[in-house]
Amino acid sequence: MKNIILIGFMGVGKGSTAREIVKQSGIVAVDTDDIIESMENRRIKKIFEEDGEAYFRDLEKRVALWLQKSVENTLISTGGGFYKVSNLKKIGKVVLLDSSFDGIYKRIKNHPNAEKKLKKRPLFKEIAKAKELYKQRLPEYKKVADIIIDVEGKSVEKIASEILKKVKK
Ligand code: S3P
Repeated sequence: MKNIILIGFMGVGKGSTAREIVKQSGIVAVDTDDIIESMENRRIKKIFEEDGEAYFRDLEKRVALWLQKSVENTLISTGGGFYKVSNLKKIGKVVLLDSSFDGIYKRIKNHPNAEKKLKKRPLFKEIAKAKELYKQRLPEYKKVADIIIDVEGKSVEKIASEILKKVKK
């Protein structure tokens, strides 16, 4: 099996979907933000504060090259901007978790850890800016995706099983 790469906007549920796919299938999963935090031994928020976004994007590119060379049969969840790496399609099958901006915002707001979820995401500090970024990225996400899954209003169990069914086809 090729790798499966989950892409989509901040807060759309890439992490929880990945955990549910693992539960349903036993496939091994990694997360690009987690890899970067381990490489740097500091949180994403700190990396943005101390070294800026461009530095973080370079780390994403390094992780993308490593994934392409060294990882197979794996589910890869990604940060919301990871889809821009030039070798994305060479890493595996790209699955977009698709939702409206309002759907994403509601999902974050309704989460018991909402404040923490917003705080750790430097690009979600201002809603207007986040919405602008969403609008700009949506067509780009759709362009790189091999499979698009509409996640709005669906349980994580349903989303995971839909993905597993579609990637096997
Ligand atoms: C980012 C999304 C974040 C994280 C970083 C940048 C983005 O990941 O990689 O803050 O550019 O959309 P999540 O999508 O998991 O929030």
